[in-house]
Amino acid sequence: MSIVDVINKKRLGFALNNEELKYAFNNFMKGNITDYQMSALLMAICINGMNDEEIYYLTDIFIKSGDILDLEKITGITVDKHSTGGVGDKTTLVIASIVAASGLKVPKMSGRGLGHTGGTIDKLESIPGFKTELTKEEFLNQVEEVGFAITSQTANLAPLDKKIYALRDVTGTVESIPLIASSIMSKKIASGAKNIVIDVKVGKGALLKNKEDAIRLSGIMRKIGARYKRNVETMITYMDIPLGTSIGNALEIKEVINILCEKEENYLVELSKALASKMIAMGKGISVLEASKEVNELIHNRSAYNKFLEMIKRQGGNIDKLEVSTNIQEIHSTKKGHIIDMDAYEFGKLSLELGGGRITKEDKIDPSVGIVLNKKIGDDVEIGDVICTLYLKKGASFIDRDITTFYKFENSNTNSDVKVMEESKSEKK
Ligand code: URA
Repeated sequence: MSIVDVINKKRLGFALNNEELKYAFNNFMKGNITDYQMSALLMAICINGMNDEEIYYLTDIFIKSGDILDLEKITGITVDKHSTGGVGDKTTLVIASIVAASGLKVPKMSGRGLGHTGGTIDKLESIPGFKTELTKEEFLNQVEEVGFAITSQTANLAPLDKKIYALRDVTGTVESIPLIASSIMSKKIASGAKNIVIDVKVGKGALLKNKEDAIRLSGIMRKIGARYKRNVETMITYMDIPLGTSIGNALEIKEVINILCEKEENYLVELSKALASKMIAMGKGISVLEASKEVNELIHNRSAYNKFLEMIKRQGGNIDKLEVSTNIQEIHSTKKGHIIDMDAYEFGKLSLELGGGRITKEDKIDPSVGIVLNKKIGDDVEIGDVICTLYLKKGASFIDRDITTFYKFENSNTNSDVKVMEESKSEKK
């Protein structure tokens, strides 16, 4: 077998068998297949897709590239959550804090930014001292003692996905249902939780742009979960506009604190509460209504905020030293009207350009850069009003572009808010 034969077979639209997939991916892991050959195969997969069998094989190869955590020794019930990624999506940090404060255990393995979307690990690394690379023992001990831990893929969990993920990020091979499904599910299975809620984002700022794709991705992830005897529930939620009021790593950590201290009231807060309620309902076997009362209480009495701080401290982070850039550019509106839409994709790309994401695998992120959205959907704007604020790299020149074009205006009172689109139950086993 040769890698060129495997690439050609996929390029011509044929399904790969388990042996061919193992050959290509395991040899890539060992360093016997180059980045450029794997990039060609990933692109062929992106263009021609994969059938369900191929996706199961690939997920299994990712899982078996490392350890599968045995959470049997963890006392209590484990629940995990994943988002397919979006712009300004900091829900994981809010939700995990709430759910851990409720007494459930959250063993969380997260990724870095992917394409124009941000990643939880990059956000956490903006906190000076924060350690994202936990060993298996550190991870398990922290889940047991604190209630939740967030690690990158270094505890030898799905390490092949980590390598492929970094390559996809810079080769235009991110937006593929088979690759997203196997990437997410391999991490979820390897990190051991029995109950998993997945937020499948759809819209301009998401990896998936239409509802049909989101439904297919949800379905395949639930089927993979059932094969490994995990309860997987999915929620399809809109990602047309950036989530919350900031984009950028340190800025988003500040926003998480604001949410947990009840200083924000917006769709992101509602979405985080809905996802946390679903996880608690699933883990405790109670109704979503009961769970949502608990969620409100855990935020209101600051238990969730304290849990967040406990997790940060345990992983070595010093939240008091979190820094955002002081090189600030205010963007003034060139239009007057009522904001009815915002382009999350454009904002995601802008954040990348400011230094908040990677263009090549070797790029270093600047955690202090980003965007604060001063105006959002539903706001009335006058010409000259500050619509957003850019946090630029130290010494970087101001951006010379009309950012107002990222917004859509209308002179009516239309309020097109974003909502949860669809929820689905786990596959029957
Ligand atoms: N999140 C992941 O972990 N992997 C993907 O491919 C996309 C989102």
